[in-house]
Amino acid sequence: MTEIPACPKLPAVQYGNLPLASRYLLSPLAGFTNLPFRRIIHGIGGVGLCTTDLVNARALLEGTSKSMELIATCPEDSPLSVQIFGSNPEEMMAAAQFLERRGVASVDINMGCPVSRITKGGAGAGMMCRPDETVHLAEQVVRSVQIPVTIKMRLGWDDQNITAPEFAKAFEQVGVAAIAIHGRTRAQGFSGTVSREGIRLVVEAVSKIPVIGNGDIRSVADAAVMFAETGCDGISIGRGALANPWIFHQLVAWEQGREIPPTGNFDQRLELLQKQFAYLVEQKGVERAIISFRKMGHWYLSAMRVAAWLRNEFQTARTPEEFEAAIRHIAELGPKYGDRNGVLPEFKIPVPSGPVERW
Ligand SMILES: Cc1cc2nc3c(=O)[nH]c(=O)nc-3n(C[C@H](O)[C@H](O)[C@H](O)COP(=O)(O)O)c2cc1C
Repeated sequence: MTEIPACPKLPAVQYGNLPLASRYLLSPLAGFTNLPFRRIIHGIGGVGLCTTDLVNARALLEGTSKSMELIATCPEDSPLSVQIFGSNPEEMMAAAQFLERRGVASVDINMGCPVSRITKGGAGAGMMCRPDETVHLAEQVVRSVQIPVTIKMRLGWDDQNITAPEFAKAFEQVGVAAIAIHGRTRAQGFSGTVSREGIRLVVEAVSKIPVIGNGDIRSVADAAVMFAETGCDGISIGRGALANPWIFHQLVAWEQGREIPPTGNFDQRLELLQKQFAYLVEQKGVERAIISFRKMGHWYLSAMRVAAWLRNEFQTARTPEEFEAAIRHIAELGPKYGDRNGVLPEFKIPVPSGPVERW
């Protein structure tokens, strides 16, 4: 195993007046970072802040059932940041105020989503194409609430337009409390590698507010490189947390100079899967939970190295009896590769596929 350097000594991260318990944050992942998964992550410990999937500001104001489900929370899901998207300042301000009244700890503005359905309306990464309006919108949202307002963005629209550093500076001036930066451009989608140099430029562009580095962090070793090469104050982890929900807990052990605990073994992962499913049943009822857990189940079963035919049995279960039978078979047969009681071999982390335009 390669030697992991000691964790740099860094001041605690604070978003405005909101102190975070750790510098390791869960990155929003639409379709995954729902309340059941956030409860799992908080239950393991080590995470400083979880953010919801992106929520349409207008839908939030209309009170659609989907947006209400996305912002559903409970005491253990704290502190919670809700990520909103939209291009209309009035709607974004009203959505932030609505969230503040509901007791949300922080509001995050999505400026990074590359999906054309979102960017076409001028939201998500589309906001990077209209700098003056975007900074003004951020300022209006900041002024409309007392809770911290943060921004999540990419490095820029494409390689010729690396605008994140200028944006970060302007956002700090209008009172944005922190920036999370995914080290890719919109044009890159999820291809290629994260530019840590690009993240560093954002860190250097601001004077006080925390910058959270994001992209491709799968392990404590990856986090160490992110801190060393960018000087960021914290990191956020998306897909790495789906593959290894213990990652935040491991990072805190590393920071405290303790031995890094191993990732969960087969049985511990199965236990977590069942717990997350039970939380989902609480929220949606068993019939809807079975269907909507398939996406997440894919991550658990891939990480557990479950054989393809068993994964298929799980993915096609429709009734509680079929679901339970699939779980029973998975528990009996164990992993196809690796040791049931040890650290399982890594699997290839998927990325959203297809051209950015069609996402
Ligand atoms: C399936 C999926 C859904 C995502 N949804 C969101 C989202 O709702 N809001 C957002 O700001 N970023 C979203 N992202 C981007 C992630 O938050 C993160 O920036 C990106 O995945 C890189 O980090 P990672 O390598 O740790 O996953 C999404 C990414 C994926 C793969």
